[in-house]
Amino acid sequence: MALLPIITAPDPRLEAVSTPVEAVTDEVRQQLDDMLETMYAAPGIGLAAIQVGIQKRMLVIDVSREGEDKQPLYIINPEFTWLSDDDKVYEEGCLSLPEQYAEVARPAEVKIEYLDYHGEKKEMQADGLLAVCLQHEMDHLDGILFVDHLSALKRNMILRKLLKQKRLAEAG
Ligand code: NI
Repeated sequence: MALLPIITAPDPRLEAVSTPVEAVTDEVRQQLDDMLETMYAAPGIGLAAIQVGIQKRMLVIDVSREGEDKQPLYIINPEFTWLSDDDKVYEEGCLSLPEQYAEVARPAEVKIEYLDYHGEKKEMQADGLLAVCLQHEMDHLDGILFVDHLSALKRNMILRKLLKQKRLAEAG
């Protein structure tokens, strides 16, 4: 397993639309293993492949609490099959937008279809933090960041801060 560098915004790669995974091969599983390790090390609760420069429709999630057993989810080619009418507001962050947080409203409950680590077709219904996380990570597959759900003013403020941080880091 290997830790992969996480791409931070603003970066055009994060705006790319990812491509469906054609077959769940050992190479794909290796990438998922690396993504999970990278996510745990960050630490984070979700990571989409594009955040480590892999333009494939897959993500890893683990919303278990500290002290609980780990509950890693490997999700490939996910599609929503149902979204609840009621929304819930949650304060979101993102490993690609370090130290930036904002409240985002999304459907409170979702159902998805996806392929698991072994390429088997699965269904999942989620609410709470898992529903938020699934929607946030699935957005990444279409090049959408959580700040894209905010007003242009708030979004630009956060992206400008990140750009400044990046320039400072590059300047060393
Ligand atoms: Ni994110």
